[in-house]
Amino acid sequence: MKSYQIQNDILSRRRLSRLWDKIHACPYFATNNLNRDFIQTKGFSVVFRREGIGMVEEKFPFFKPYLDVALQPDCNAFYLNPLLLTEGSRVDPHIDRSLRSYCKTINPPQVVSVLYVRLPEAMVGGELVLKAGKRQVGCITPAANALVYFQGDLTHSVNPVKTAGSRLSLVCEQYALTPAELEDIPLMTIESRARAIAF
Ligand SMILES: [Fe+2]
Repeated sequence: MKSYQIQNDILSRRRLSRLWDKIHACPYFATNNLNRDFIQTKGFSVVFRREGIGMVEEKFPFFKPYLDVALQPDCNAFYLNPLLLTEGSRVDPHIDRSLRSYCKTINPPQVVSVLYVRLPEAMVGGELVLKAGKRQVGCITPAANALVYFQGDLTHSVNPVKTAGSRLSLVCEQYALTPAELEDIPLMTIESRARAIAF
């Protein structure tokens, strides 16, 4: 596959706006627990195996339209993360491997999907930069309601947002794990600075 793909106008306006409302109202939505690459960001994470999708949809019905379109049939473990950036936020270059805390030997995801839920008017900065090693392979200017897929082993970063307002994306790292690796992944767990609850 090409390093990345973009699909526009993914959800209805009503569903997109519901996603925004519900993520904000969610008690888990708090200053980010991801790591030091994430500067001034807010979010929470849901870790799940394919068999746990029903539990995710029961707990977070507003994620269902996204999961229906974004999840890849050949992937079996997922790290879903609403991510809010505001003026001054940025994400430093990294390769996703958020499931490493459950399984140390894990490879990067097969693919990462990102839906842009809301963006500041006339946003300056906030581009998603993709690199294969040192070579830049993409610099994506987010568009509201666009879904980006990128190859999971790419180094990526988000340029500093220089505009007031909210840049909310819904990110999903999608893994194709071996049966042995999959055993270490919870059916469904929520990771949040606000609380940690295991199912
Ligand atoms: Fe990432």
